[in-house]
Order: sequence, then C-alpha cells, then structure tokens
Amino acid sequence: MPITIRALALIVSVIATLVPTAALGRGPACPEIHRGETTAQPPAVGQNDTHARPEPVVDNGEFMDMFLKATYTELQQSMAKPPTERKEWAAIYQKATRLAEMQNLLFFRNRDEVKDPRWAAHTAAGRQAAADLASAAVVALRNVQKADFEGVRKKYVALADSCNACHKTFARDAPTIKP
Ligand code: HEC
Repeated sequence: MPITIRALALIVSVIATLVPTAALGRGPACPEIHRGETTAQPPAVGQNDTHARPEPVVDNGEFMDMFLKATYTELQQSMAKPPTERKEWAAIYQKATRLAEMQNLLFFRNRDEVKDPRWAAHTAAGRQAAADLASAAVVALRNVQKADFEGVRKKYVALADSCNACHKTFARDAPTIKP
C-alpha cells in the first residue's frame, strides 16, 4: 500500500522538523544547561502593576501656573458677564469641571505639606467649590431664560476663596486669586 507508506513518511518528516524546534524553544531556560546561573525571567506583562501609582510630573509652583491658573483664567473670562447663550453656560460648566477634576492632582505633589491633613482638607474644599459651580452652571444651562447669574457668581467667588484659603495656610507669597 504505497499511499499509506508515503503518508506515514510525511508524518514522520513533519515530526522530525517539529521536534528540534520545540527543543530549541525550551533550550535557553533549561536549568540543566544553565545550572548555577540565575533563571530569572523578565516580568510577565502586568506583574509590576503593584508599583504603578500616581506621581507628580511637575513641581507644585509649575502645576499651579500651568493647570490651575491657566484654567482659572479661562473661567474668569467666561464669568466676566452674564451669559446669554447655552454654549456660554456650557463653557463655564466645562472649565469649572476641569478645575474640580484637576484638584485631585493636588493630593500628590512634591511638597512636604501634602502630608499635613490641612492640605487634603483645602484640596477637597477646592474640588467641591469647583464642582458646586459646575452644577450651578448646568442648572442655568437647562433654562437659560431663568438663569440666576448672581447665584452662580457666588459659587465662583467661593471657588476663588478656596484657592486663597490654601495659599493663606501654605503659601503666603502666592498671588491672591481674584474673582
Ligand atoms: C491645597 C493647596 C492649594 C490650593 C487648593 C491652591 N493652591 Fe495655588 N499654590 C499653593 C502653593 C503651596 C503655592 C506656592 C507654590 C509652590 O508650591 O512653591 C501656590 C501657588 C500658586 C500660584 C503661583 C505659582 C507660582 O508661579 O509660584 C498660582 C498662580 C496659584 N497657586 C493658583 C491657584 C489657583 C487659581 C487655585 C484655585 C483654583 C489654587 N492655586 C489653589 C497651594 C494651593
């Protein structure tokens, strides 16, 4: 039965090519070959995740300028006069939300004061003040005709006060943030 024999020969030759490949694949890590040497392997993907954590990229002064001040200045422009259109209220909402979320980054700055419980308290208060302003802007956005600009402005002033409250405690040289 020549066909069967030829098929068998083919299987044998395929196995013959596979075996050395498989053996090679195991080779370098084989403890018998590298006896006495370290068998440490590069970490599997995700294995080092326990060391991953939020870390500051810039120092606190630069953070203030590039993030908080920059966004606060944009918010200040949006708050300069009572909005008449939905998109102007939306701009206030967006900038206040950005400031609220950014303040989370204050929880891990390269400054010893971060360990002081007052730092976290001021940070949380600032985040809340910005979030309150964002919420008030959303209410106004839903009904532009009945929007209460004076009420929203009070939230905005409270946000500026929250910046200054932390500066007063930790950075007397920092500029006074004006509404
Ligand atoms: C949790 C504390 C804290 C909060 C909240 C805070 N700041 Fe600051 N800020 C500081 C400290 C501390 C400094 C002094 C800079 C430093 O770290 O050397 C500073 C400095 C600054 C400076 C001067 C930066 C420079 O060039 O040195 C600006 C501008 C500023 N803050 C803006 C703001 C604004 C706007 C807000 C509110 C939206 C705010 N900060 C909220 C702690 C805070």
